[in-house]
Amino acid sequence: MKCLPVFNFFYLLSFISVIELSFGGDTITIGQSISDGETLVSSSLRFELGFFSPGNSNNRYLGIWYKSSPRTVVWVANRYKPITDKNGVLTLSNNGSILLLNQERSTIWSSNSSRVLETAVVRLLDSGNLVLRDNVSRSSDEYMWQSFDYPSDTLLPGMKLGWNLRTRFERYLTAWRNADDPTPGEFSFRFDISTMAELVTVTGSKIEVRSGPWNGQQFVGIPMFFPRLKNKVYIPMLVRTEDEAYYTYKPINDKVIPRLYLDQSGKLQRFVWNQTSSEWRMSYSWPFDACDNYAQCGANSNCRISKTPICECLAGFISKPQDDWDSPYSRRCDRKPSDCPSGEGFLKLQRMKLPENYWSNKSMNLKECEAECIRNCSCRAYANSDITGGGSGCLMWFGDLIDIRECTEEFSWGQDIFIRVPAADLESTQYSSKHSNKKKRLKIIVAMSIISGMLILGLLLGMAWKKAKNKGYNKRTGQENEDQNEDLELPLFKLATIANATGNFSINNKLGEGGFGLVYKGTLADGQEIAVKRLSKISEQGLKELKNEVILFSKLQHRNLVKLLGCCIQGEEKLLIYEFMPNKSLDSFIFDQTRRTLLDWSKRFNIICGTARGLLYLHQDSRLRIIHRDLKASNVLLDQDMNPKISDFGLARTFARDETEGNTNRVVGTYGYMAPEYASDGQFSVKSDVFSFGVLLLEIVSGKRNRGFYHSDNKLNLIGHAWKLWNKGMPSQLIDACIQDSCNFAEVIRCIHIGLLCVQQHPEDRPCMPSVILMLGSETVLSQPKQPGYLAHRKCTRPDSSSSMPESSSTNTIMISELEGR
Ligand SMILES: *[C@@H]1O[C@H](CO)[C@@H](O)[C@H](O)[C@H]1NC(C)=O
Ligand SMILES: *[C@@H]1O[C@H](CO)[C@@H](O)[C@H](O)[C@H]1NC(C)=O
Ligand SMILES: *[C@@H]1O[C@H](CO)[C@@H](O)[C@H](O)[C@H]1NC(C)=O
Ligand SMILES: *[C@@H]1O[C@H](CO)[C@@H](O)[C@H](O)[C@H]1NC(C)=O
Ligand SMILES: *[C@@H]1O[C@H](CO)[C@@H](O)[C@H](O)[C@H]1NC(C)=O
Ligand SMILES: *[C@@H]1O[C@H](CO)[C@@H](O)[C@H](O)[C@H]1NC(C)=O
Repeated sequence: MKCLPVFNFFYLLSFISVIELSFGGDTITIGQSISDGETLVSSSLRFELGFFSPGNSNNRYLGIWYKSSPRTVVWVANRYKPITDKNGVLTLSNNGSILLLNQERSTIWSSNSSRVLETAVVRLLDSGNLVLRDNVSRSSDEYMWQSFDYPSDTLLPGMKLGWNLRTRFERYLTAWRNADDPTPGEFSFRFDISTMAELVTVTGSKIEVRSGPWNGQQFVGIPMFFPRLKNKVYIPMLVRTEDEAYYTYKPINDKVIPRLYLDQSGKLQRFVWNQTSSEWRMSYSWPFDACDNYAQCGANSNCRISKTPICECLAGFISKPQDDWDSPYSRRCDRKPSDCPSGEGFLKLQRMKLPENYWSNKSMNLKECEAECIRNCSCRAYANSDITGGGSGCLMWFGDLIDIRECTEEFSWGQDIFIRVPAADLESTQYSSKHSNKKKRLKIIVAMSIISGMLILGLLLGMAWKKAKNKGYNKRTGQENEDQNEDLELPLFKLATIANATGNFSINNKLGEGGFGLVYKGTLADGQEIAVKRLSKISEQGLKELKNEVILFSKLQHRNLVKLLGCCIQGEEKLLIYEFMPNKSLDSFIFDQTRRTLLDWSKRFNIICGTARGLLYLHQDSRLRIIHRDLKASNVLLDQDMNPKISDFGLARTFARDETEGNTNRVVGTYGYMAPEYASDGQFSVKSDVFSFGVLLLEIVSGKRNRGFYHSDNKLNLIGHAWKLWNKGMPSQLIDACIQDSCNFAEVIRCIHIGLLCVQQHPEDRPCMPSVILMLGSETVLSQPKQPGYLAHRKCTRPDSSSSMPESSSTNTIMISELEGR
């Protein structure tokens, strides 16, 4: 009997060593070392230290990672100097330095602690911190050296991002150069105290994104969480003492494991570990959209992502006339003239990211702040410096207001700011300066009580609505993850739910057929209509990627993109669930003899503008920089109000790329819409999407297909025909007969003009989407188009079909290539 435990012990040991040559403990003492293959593991098994090779590299690095799979590296010791073989050794030298040695016993990396220590130990703590300390000293916080002082690309809870003000020592994150190389890349994330205390992502000395000031609870320009993540998962903290100034955070409770990561493209991403599914789930990434980019709109201009164009001068400012089409963001806005201070007041803007460069006084209140600001004519705006408990402190801006944006509604961030405007711009506002006379005051009091009455009413209504909504939500029985963290992720639907909703994928509910599977209409238990895309054959390798893509694409939210509601991955079945679009696709209107009359010019123009906005979002605002590659009339779906929504962006395409990689270099796209350089050389860019948009524009105006177009007297396609008419000075002949009476003539001609600019032969001659939107929205002079690309039909005259797809049978020339019913 006595032997048994011993036997078990050795059995266990050999078992462990099969899996991993683990050093076992979390500590090394003087003279001990660990070599490549051995690891240190923190006491609760959360972190592990050892040698690893990143990505596809064969170089060896000493690092710390989460002991989860896949390995998530959070710290690298020898970032600059890899070991090229597996003979590296980590040791604690006699004098108490941590040394990383190569085969020749020369030092690759060392902890440069200055004190000689003979009782030193190195320990990997459960926080992920590798510390060197004196074994004799009882005080556990006193470290001779710690890895938390030299962050890599990850800020773990408890790490400090910022400054030791006495020694001017700074801790900051630097991104890896790429997935194979942990050498510091171009982006870093730091706590900038040079001018003001804000977090910034920088390349060199250039600011890419700034966080805005700390408002007592958070940095005003960084969302705390994404809309789907209703619960806070961490608590941000800003510490400022005589000795230190830093940012840090802690999890809301010890069940939550968050991490903040600076990716190689300069995006800051917050992840939370999901114990159930054993994976990291992203709760936000920042910058999130174009408005987050530093000074996107230039001086005194507000950035609003929901508007087109996104930049607009603040009230009290007017934009200077501009002539440079291709840099819509280089403009600036100037003050309207006014009498100071008598003819001016303050306008309240809500939920704003506060601009840079402010003056602050913590002991003033908002009233004093306003008084101080109105007195000094160069004060342009003011705000509270701390919003805690109703607000306190004072921030004031002198000079231009730079990097100001409106925060999107669903995110909890932003703050009120009061900007100085001429009295004329104050009418119909909620707020007025104290310089207004008594009468005005009375009016305001009355208005205020009305407003607050309405607010209360609104609140009550809102609560009632929320209740109703929750009820409805619970009714949707098949949806998984109904716990509090459900909103962390895209909803996963159960197969049974979807089978139920679609009548077991009944043929009667089939909406269409795409290259990647069939599309069905369905109705959930709560009555919501959905479109279900049933993907055919995905290899197992593709599965994880698909999941990631789904998560990424579910984050794309724009009213001109079809919304991905969720997915279902169960066994063989891979389903994508989209919102259902009752009016099907644009081509079912504009190319249909009877239904075309339902779209008058104003509806068509609305569709053009909406599609442009959706495309702009894909190209630059979403930060994923998606090139659609198959924009066409059948991929523009219409909701019940005839608002356009672009469908089939990326997701299916990514999947297709995956599948055809080993196959051929098939160009995915549709003849008739493909830019010349894409069709012939497979070169795609945002400008090839612009080409497709141009074709679509001409089709909407003319009601004719580019590809199916035949004109009695020539062999030209629609583009060629439009070009010919343009040169003859008769572009109006292109206009669809059924809108000729209803249309705004100048607007239509302008659209044809823009369409021709978009279909230019050379990508560099085509405008980019921000310019297109600017052109659509203003009346400025446009440049003259040169001869466009593809004037005549290409030899192969198979009509409008996606080349990526199996040929479908056609009955007439008007054939729908991929009916994306959603
Ligand atoms: C370690 O060495 C680096 C580079 O020489 C130096 O910048 C840093 O201040 C040193 N740290 C300590 C604690 O001596
Ligand atoms: C400790 O020893 C190493 C190698 O023996 C040496 O490079 C280092 O400078 C020493 N450190 C101190 C503080 O003496
Ligand atoms: C550290 O101190 C503990 C308790 O005083 C002792 O048991 C241990 O052996 C010491 N370790 C080293 C490496 O000195
Ligand atoms: C801040 O405001 C208070 C009250 O107006 C004033 O006494 C104090 O001097 C101000 N501090 C600074 C730094 O201007
Ligand atoms: C207004 O404020 C600026 C900046 O604080 C200061 O330089 C200027 O003297 C002030 N002007 C007046 C009239 O107080
Ligand atoms: C974790 O993932 C599982 C399975 O995907 C899911 O059911 C659960 O809701 C997730 N939990 C959190 C906290 O996100």
